[in-house]
Amino acid sequence: MKHYIRFPRLEGQTSRQAHADLPQGTYERELGKEGFFGPATHMYHRHPPTGWSSWEGPLRPRAFDLARINQEHASPFDAAEILFNAHVRLRFWRAPAAMDHLARNGDGDELIFVHRGAGDLFCDYGHMSYRAGDYIVLPRSTMWRIESREPTVCLLIEATGSTYMLPEKGMLGHHAIFDPAVLETPSIDDAFRAQQGETPTRVVIKRRNALSVCTYPFNPLDAVGWHGDLAPVKLNVEQIRPLASHRYHLPPSAHTTFVANRFVVCTFTPRPFETDPGALKVPFFHNNDDYDEVLFYHAGDFFSRDNIHAGMMTLHPCGFTHGPHPKALERAFVQPKPATDEYAVMLDTRDALEIGAAAQAVEWPDYADSWKVKRAAE
Ligand SMILES: [Fe+2]
Repeated sequence: MKHYIRFPRLEGQTSRQAHADLPQGTYERELGKEGFFGPATHMYHRHPPTGWSSWEGPLRPRAFDLARINQEHASPFDAAEILFNAHVRLRFWRAPAAMDHLARNGDGDELIFVHRGAGDLFCDYGHMSYRAGDYIVLPRSTMWRIESREPTVCLLIEATGSTYMLPEKGMLGHHAIFDPAVLETPSIDDAFRAQQGETPTRVVIKRRNALSVCTYPFNPLDAVGWHGDLAPVKLNVEQIRPLASHRYHLPPSAHTTFVANRFVVCTFTPRPFETDPGALKVPFFHNNDDYDEVLFYHAGDFFSRDNIHAGMMTLHPCGFTHGPHPKALERAFVQPKPATDEYAVMLDTRDALEIGAAAQAVEWPDYADSWKVKRAAE
């Protein structure tokens, strides 16, 4: 048996509840372990904790404009490598109109997030269409290909050596956030049967991050049926019914969509702002002290970020305090609109992320300066 050293303590001028009724003129910062689940302290500062005047050294917040990656890649395994560690590999993929081979990832489950486009996915289990905002979980070693009907841009998030699962929903119950009945699986339908035949087919297999090619004299997507509880599943961000509270600013972990070994994927979807006068209405300052945090801006108006547009990705590494930008901070307790209208995908990783060459090529180098308050003279 082991447990945290826990001793809720109040020291000096403080609120007695997180994210509400801050002492006059203070800025709240959460210092927390275990990705918002572990021991945490809320500290009330005289200055915004992001009020630095300069940054030196290798640790800094990063921002990448993935929308500037224009190159199309014939295979998902050639896609632009953005971020990776031993447990997760995130790529940005401008897909071709039609793949000329089947892909098979032997390294782990693949999560496709469709940022732009629409089309059809064919795999061992059948056919399903896709559109922007879709998550598609492909179990490890599924053979698949896509045919785009509209130019398709995806994030590919490999759960290296592990399996995508759903988060514990605890006292919210099984049907909260999204009812599992909305998950779609592929169908053995007319479109699937129509693509079957004796066409020689290449299968590109990734294992230990090396590629091998296995060629069949026929199309191996030739199933006539299947039964079981293992299959790709599809969920659109519009099907997510996010948690919200009128009196408590919920932490990012309340928006968890999928969990895998040593990382989670969360989804921010439009939700009402808090209405209680004392409740904070913007993300609180925090250091999420055990995780690197990645945010991909999919669509909408990103209220807490200046100079951020759809297709950008930020990385807030462990050890870096972050929170609302100055413009958002002015609206910490007063909001001009009733709800957010942002869609964003968050990846929180327990282990430090490496930055791929494709991301470095589209980096916004002055991102660390974006929290600076512009003085009247500037
Ligand atoms: Fe964060």
